[in-house]
Amino acid sequence: MGGTGATGSVAGSGVPGSGAAAGSGQSGSVAGSGAGGTGASGSVSATDGGTVNVNWPSQACQTQTAAMLAKMSKMQKAQQMVMLESTQAALGMVSSNLPGAVFAGGSGGSNMDGPGNQSAGSWAAFTGQFRSAAAGAALQIPLLYGLDVVHGNNGATNAVIMPQNHGLGATHDLALVQAVYNVAAQESLAVGINWTFGPFSGVVWDYRWGRVYESFGGDPVAVSQMVQAAVLGFQGPNGLGSGSAGVGGAVACSKHFAGDGQMGPPSATGVVVDRGQINVDTPTMMTWGVNPYIPALQAGLGCIMVSDAHWNGASITEDKQLITMILKGQLGFKGFVITDWNAGNTGPAVGAGVDMFMHPGGGNLSPEQAESNTINIIANLPAGMDSRIDDAVTRILNVKCQAGQAAFAPGDPSTVGSGAHRAIARKAVAESMVVLQNTGNALPLGATAKVFVTGSGANSMRNQCGGWTITWQGNGDRVTGGTTIQAAVNKVSPTVGSMAAADTVVVVLSEPPYAEGAGDSATLDTLPAGDFTLLDQAKAAGKKVVAIVMSGRPVLLHDLTKADAWIAAWLPGSEGDGVADILFGKVKPTGKLPHHWPASDAQARWGGVAVGSYMPMFKIGDGLTW
Ligand code: BGC
Repeated sequence: MGGTGATGSVAGSGVPGSGAAAGSGQSGSVAGSGAGGTGASGSVSATDGGTVNVNWPSQACQTQTAAMLAKMSKMQKAQQMVMLESTQAALGMVSSNLPGAVFAGGSGGSNMDGPGNQSAGSWAAFTGQFRSAAAGAALQIPLLYGLDVVHGNNGATNAVIMPQNHGLGATHDLALVQAVYNVAAQESLAVGINWTFGPFSGVVWDYRWGRVYESFGGDPVAVSQMVQAAVLGFQGPNGLGSGSAGVGGAVACSKHFAGDGQMGPPSATGVVVDRGQINVDTPTMMTWGVNPYIPALQAGLGCIMVSDAHWNGASITEDKQLITMILKGQLGFKGFVITDWNAGNTGPAVGAGVDMFMHPGGGNLSPEQAESNTINIIANLPAGMDSRIDDAVTRILNVKCQAGQAAFAPGDPSTVGSGAHRAIARKAVAESMVVLQNTGNALPLGATAKVFVTGSGANSMRNQCGGWTITWQGNGDRVTGGTTIQAAVNKVSPTVGSMAAADTVVVVLSEPPYAEGAGDSATLDTLPAGDFTLLDQAKAAGKKVVAIVMSGRPVLLHDLTKADAWIAAWLPGSEGDGVADILFGKVKPTGKLPHHWPASDAQARWGGVAVGSYMPMFKIGDGLTW
C-alpha cells in the first residue's frame, strides 16, 4: 500500500518474564508474534499483501475539506465539534445546529436504547430520522451516528453477539478477529450506525476493574495486533471507506488513550479502579499505554477517545503532551480525538488537542442545554485558538470524507443476525475456550455421554453475553437469536434432567453482567457460592465434573480439585454452540490465556511485573489441548 501512515513502533514491549524473551519491537508491521510466546497467529490482510500502512486523507478529501472549512462560520465549526445524545429533543437541533455526530451512549439516560424497541428495523428507522434532519441543514456535512459496538452490533436485539474482547484475545487469531469486527461493522451499517466507540486498546493490570473483558489481554504487543485487526475489520482493509462498498464506511474510535489499562485506585467516582489514577513514568506509559495504538494508526484508524483518567495527578483530557505532541505529532495520528463522557473542561481540552466533545456539561442541565453551552464556549474561544479549531474541524471532515459518509445509506436490516455471521461467531467462541485443567482426559465428551448441564450460567443468555448487550449494564435476555450452553449441549447429545441420571455434570459458573465502574469489585471472589456447591454435589455423587467459567475477568476458582476439567469460557455471546464444539471434540482447543489468572485477591493487581515475582494460578499464554 505504501504511503506514510503513522510512524513509530511498538518498541520494548512484551510481558516480562512470561516464559520467553520480551517481545521484539516492531516498526510498520504487525507480522510476527507477541511477547512471551503468546503472540497472535495468522495475519491481517492488506489488500496488496504488503505491510499495513494506510496513507490518508486522500488529496480529493483534503481539497473538499478545505473548501467546506472556508464556508463555515466559527459557530458552525463549534457545532461540528460536539456530539449530541440522540434524544428526540436533539433531533430538533440537528437541522438548525448541525452537530458533528449523534450517539446513543451507554451511561446516562439513553442507555444504548436509541429507538426504545431495539429491533434492527427500529434502529434503521431511528437513525434515519437523524440523517434526514442533517440533510436539511444549511451545510451539506454528513452526520456520524455512534454506538458502543463492543461485541457485535450489541444494540440490536437480533444481532449476532460476539465474544467479548478478552475471549477474542484468547484466540490469538488475527484473521478471525478481523472477520468478527467486519461482521460487527456490517450489522451496524445495516441499521445506520456508522461509528463505534471501540476497539478497546487498554492492556489491563488490575482485574478488579469492571472493564477487563473489553481488553484483548495483558501483553502489549499481542493487544496491539488485535486492535489493528479489529480496526481493519471494522473500517476496511485499506482504511476508512474501504470496507463496505456502496453504503459508506464505518469509523472506529479506539479507546481510552492513553494508559487506561495501567489505571488503579483511587477511583474518581468512588468505585475501585474506574476513572482512577495512572501512576507510571513516561517510558512505562509509552510501552503499555501508547504504543499499543501504533499498528491501529498504521491501519488508518479514524478516531481515538481520550481516557477520563488522571496520569500522575493530571487530567488526560487536558494533556497537551499526550494528545498533541505524542499522538498527533510524534505518531502522526490523522483522525480526530473525542473526549469520554462529560470529561474535561472545554477550553483547556480544545487547547490540549481534543477535537470533539461527548455529552459535555452534565449537572442539572438537560443534554441539549449542556451541549448548547459547550458549543457556545468553543465559538467564543479567543482568536488565538482559531487555528486549533480549524485543525479540529479539518480532522472531523477528513474522516467523514475518507469514510465515504456523504454516500452513506444503511444496508439491509434483514441481514442482521444472518447464519453466515453466526458461523463466524461460533468459530470465535470455540477458538476462545481456554482449557485450564483436564484431569484424566475428562474431555472431550463422547457423543453418547449422559450430560446434566447446571449452574447459574447454564441457560442464561444474560450472563453469557455480559455488559454492553442491548443495555449498557447488559440485558442478554432480550437477545432474540443464538443458543445458550445448555441448549447447545442438548443439540449434540440430549441432556438428562437431573444430576442423578447423568454420568457427566457440566456446571456453568458465572458472573452476572456489568459494565464500567458498576462492575468494579474489590474482590475477585465473584462466582456464586451455589455454583461451587453444585461442583461439590456432583463430585460427591461420583460423576465426571466439568466446570465452565463465564466471567468478565479472571475470578477466584478456589480449589481446582472440585472438578475434573476447568474451562475459561469468558463471555462468549450469543453462540453457545461454539462451547459445545469444544466439549464434544468437534474443535480441538487452541485458546491461550490473554490475561493472567490470579490465585487470590492479593494478586488482583499484577502491575506488569515479571512472572516469578508474580505467581498467578495460571499465566498469560497458558492453555491445554488434546
Ligand atoms: C465510557 C466510554 C463509552 C461512552 C459512551 C463512557 O462512560 O467510558 O467507553 O464509549 O461512555 O457510551
